[in-house]
Amino acid sequence: MARIKRLAVFTSGGDAPGMNAAIRAVVRTGLSYDLEVFGILRGYKGMINNDFIPLYSKSVGHIIQQGGTILRTARCAEFRTEEGRKKAYENLKKNKIDAVIVIGGDGSFSGAGIFSAEYDIPFVGIPGTIDNDMYGTDFTIGFDTALNTVTEAIDRIKDTATSHDRIFFVEVMGRDAGFIAVRAGIATGAEGVLIPEIDNQEKLLTHFIKKNPHKKSHIFIVAEGNKGGGAVVLTEAMKKEFPELSIRATVLGHTQRGGSPTAFDRFLASRLGVAAVDALMDNQRSVMVGYKNHEVIHMPFNKTIKGARTVSADLIRVSDILTT
Ligand code: F6P
Repeated sequence: MARIKRLAVFTSGGDAPGMNAAIRAVVRTGLSYDLEVFGILRGYKGMINNDFIPLYSKSVGHIIQQGGTILRTARCAEFRTEEGRKKAYENLKKNKIDAVIVIGGDGSFSGAGIFSAEYDIPFVGIPGTIDNDMYGTDFTIGFDTALNTVTEAIDRIKDTATSHDRIFFVEVMGRDAGFIAVRAGIATGAEGVLIPEIDNQEKLLTHFIKKNPHKKSHIFIVAEGNKGGGAVVLTEAMKKEFPELSIRATVLGHTQRGGSPTAFDRFLASRLGVAAVDALMDNQRSVMVGYKNHEVIHMPFNKTIKGARTVSADLIRVSDILTT
């Protein structure tokens, strides 16, 4: 196999705090192997539009503490087409790129898996998404920061909920998974958590509220993918059922995606950034580097994409015991 001389790195899909720390680690590890390193702007879109920039050690100085991604990011429908991928390949060749590191979620890895089956350019992936829904890794970059942001926001909501004797439905992100919701529920001592992994939890709300008539303020955390509806829908339904109660909805939205990464996310991103370059130099291809039981692991793209990762029954039990 030809020796890798030029490496490209890009971020793709929803941004996540810690992506910059991962870019920094990739660039500096690449340079330590005497590689030339390039950044591709705005994910697969930049690959198709030939947006490549050289990256040096200095280019990634003072970014470890910054949220977002200095390489920008995008979701790119064109890369799903054969023509789009052909343009991307031609640009990688034009820029003499021998290997690529993608930082993103499962959609980004699906694209990388398809592309590297069609073309002879090796890809390695680093899991970066606040959702924590990637199979094969205990944690994705950005999840810990998002969880801390949610915890802080809910602590604040709790103050006003208690003062006004109010019920709040707080909606958190997570796409089709309840990782943020369950952990935030445990961390904030919420009264209930509604997640996509469990059907018909809405029926329990009435029970929760009636169970303890003296308790007037409740926090219910709703994962955005909850099948019975989000915070606004549930708030309207509960207002009809309990017109005498004061009920409010808060959707935390994209506040969860921004902010300075926690120490854990900076550490994870740095560790996986180094591991991704090491993996390429070790001739590994089409794998995700992940973190399992505090060790770096390598998992083929097709397994991370196909394997469903849902909140564990054990965590749901802990949440059920500790919420009311
Ligand atoms: O995957 C990260 C995520 O923030 C999800 O939690 C959410 O469903 C989605 O991205 C929102 O996407 P967008 O920023 O494109 O609206």
